[in-house]
Amino acid sequence: MLDLTLAIAHHLLVFGLFGILFAELILVRPGMDKQAVTRVGRIDLWYGALAGLIIVVGFSRAIFAAKGWFYYSHNAFFWAKLGTFAVIGLLSVPPTIAYIAWRRADIVPNDAQVRNAQRCLWIEVVLFALLPAFAAAMARGYGEIG
Ligand code: HEM
Repeated sequence: MLDLTLAIAHHLLVFGLFGILFAELILVRPGMDKQAVTRVGRIDLWYGALAGLIIVVGFSRAIFAAKGWFYYSHNAFFWAKLGTFAVIGLLSVPPTIAYIAWRRADIVPNDAQVRNAQRCLWIEVVLFALLPAFAAAMARGYGEIG
């Protein structure tokens, strides 16, 4: 039952995070107004919260659920997934800093500032697509180490 509950929570959180990332991509565009700046800042708080919950639920699955920590810690796709997730996390920092700066200065971003944030968001989306592939491989025992 714990395994099932964590699996459901994991999937819902992951879909939620992808939805938020996509919403940011739609809001951050040249010509965005102050309302969009406020909105994307608020949405970004949810991004942080969901990412934190995914880490908690993900590690709970890896440690307490059906297969156990030994299985995952000896799987290359598990580490590839964690590494990719960490890179996505790092890429989300510059847009977050930009949203806060735009709001504090009460400005709308110029095109160059928008492009910088968009670049990070697009790379995040591309890397995100790798995660379900790594997850499916690790769940099926591919990439076993040792
Ligand atoms: C946004 C990031 C993530 C995405 C998109 C994602 C995606 C997925 C998907 C689609 C599955 C189901 C695989 C399957 O049964 O075919 C899964 C399973 C799993 N994920 Fe994640 N995941 C993410 C983050 C994490 C993190 C941070 C951890 C931390 C340890 C984690 C640990 C696990 C575990 C333990 C499973 C169970 C695999 C199994 O059934 O053996 N995930 N993930």
